[in-house]
Amino acid sequence: MTVPDARDPRDIHFSVPQVHRLRTTWEVAGDDFAELLDLLQRSSDDPAASSSPKVLVWADAEVAAASPRVAAIAKRLCQSGRADLVADVRLIPGGEVSKNSPEVVESLLSEINDAMLDRRSYIIAIGGGAMLDTAGYAAAIAHRGIRLIRIPTTTLSQADSGVGVKNAINHFGKKNWVGTFAVPWAVINDAGFLTTLPDRDFVCGFSEAVKVSLLKDPATFERICEDAAAIASRDMTVACRVIEASCQMHLRHITQGGDPFETLEARPLDFGHWSAHRLEPLSDYAIRHGEAVAIGVALDCIYSSLVHGFPASDAERVCDCFTRLGLPLWDEALDDFENVLGGLEEFRQHLGGRLTVTMLRGIGEPLNVHQIDVDAMRSAGERLKEIALRSVPPRGEVMSASRRSPDHRHR
Ligand SMILES: NC(=O)c1ccc[n+]([C@@H]2O[C@H](COP(=O)([O-])OP(=O)(O)OC[C@H]3O[C@@H](n4cnc5c(N)ncnc54)[C@H](O)[C@@H]3O)[C@@H](O)[C@H]2O)c1
Ligand SMILES: [Zn+2]
Repeated sequence: MTVPDARDPRDIHFSVPQVHRLRTTWEVAGDDFAELLDLLQRSSDDPAASSSPKVLVWADAEVAAASPRVAAIAKRLCQSGRADLVADVRLIPGGEVSKNSPEVVESLLSEINDAMLDRRSYIIAIGGGAMLDTAGYAAAIAHRGIRLIRIPTTTLSQADSGVGVKNAINHFGKKNWVGTFAVPWAVINDAGFLTTLPDRDFVCGFSEAVKVSLLKDPATFERICEDAAAIASRDMTVACRVIEASCQMHLRHITQGGDPFETLEARPLDFGHWSAHRLEPLSDYAIRHGEAVAIGVALDCIYSSLVHGFPASDAERVCDCFTRLGLPLWDEALDDFENVLGGLEEFRQHLGGRLTVTMLRGIGEPLNVHQIDVDAMRSAGERLKEIALRSVPPRGEVMSASRRSPDHRHR
């Protein structure tokens, strides 16, 4: 880790105390509702004042349509007498479309202004990772930060992004170009919400779980490999155990890893993401983030086996694990591989400084590299395509991720 230059006496180093509140529930709209209510603090420190905080509930439109839990939460908040719900539940389009439309953020800011929220008010955001990113960005910039309670509703957002401290929307055709670092007031991972997820989205979160276990915990990687079929068939006990393990690894990295706001060159949690972030816009967002991450992690595992001594048999196991989870190893956007390679320069620009990409020497042994052997990466791409062609996914989907969903709501 680079230590800031402490020798100059004019430089004052200081830190800001932060609290991360993660709660795990099975029915936040039902028996576990108190977990949500107890997170709301009064809007005034004056004990004589009767002051319920102002609250807005924002929900992913697809979640609200699929699950009665959203309406139930709003109703119970109203009835609780401990929250001043200042507007009806606001629906935000689900998926990448909300991150691709700056007007969505603008309209959310207008709503905050109309409702006269202040820095002691709460926004409760319920939805998938994309909608949470959009909502989180609006909450972070309004009044320089309104308290945000995230209720992630996808496996990916519960296993990874929901617990994180980043939010962003897409701009200039690039992922996450506009955004902030902001610690959420709280995160509630509620298993009940996952029941309405389509199968395609249900498996997406496990690519991030594989990613973080490859970086940090070989035993968890083994467990995901063993449990892959049970996860793909939606065994909730097994799936939630893996989500919890992944979430905890992400949380530990953020709260104890020493670089929550990613000021250093290395960003290990972005393993496999240089190509994933490129593939998403190249596929016109037909490919999901979780699918792109599976492809990106598989590609970098094969590359690591060609260049950094990562055992080839382990790279094959990673690919096999993704296939048994029902995740893709290839997308037609990869056919223009030279264009995908442009993701390396985008990744470098986003971080600043030297190109720094995390690769693997072994499972649980990450390695930061500053150069990519582009010929070896091309070979890794060819090898990945061979493996993808001979892999048989559990539900027999076509090999290409972006051909899985005929609709393009995510654009
Ligand atoms: N901020 C971060 O640190 C971070 C980290 C990783 C990923 N991300 C972002 O997260 C996004 C991907 O998130 P995601 O994988 O959660 O997908 P998503 O938000 O795109 O959701 C997938 C689809 O499922 C729907 N949906 C969500 N929950 C549902 C439910 N319970 N029932 C029915 N439908 C539901 C959504 O409306 C959407 O159509 C990407 O934009 C990615 O960049 C952010
Ligand atoms: Zn990711």
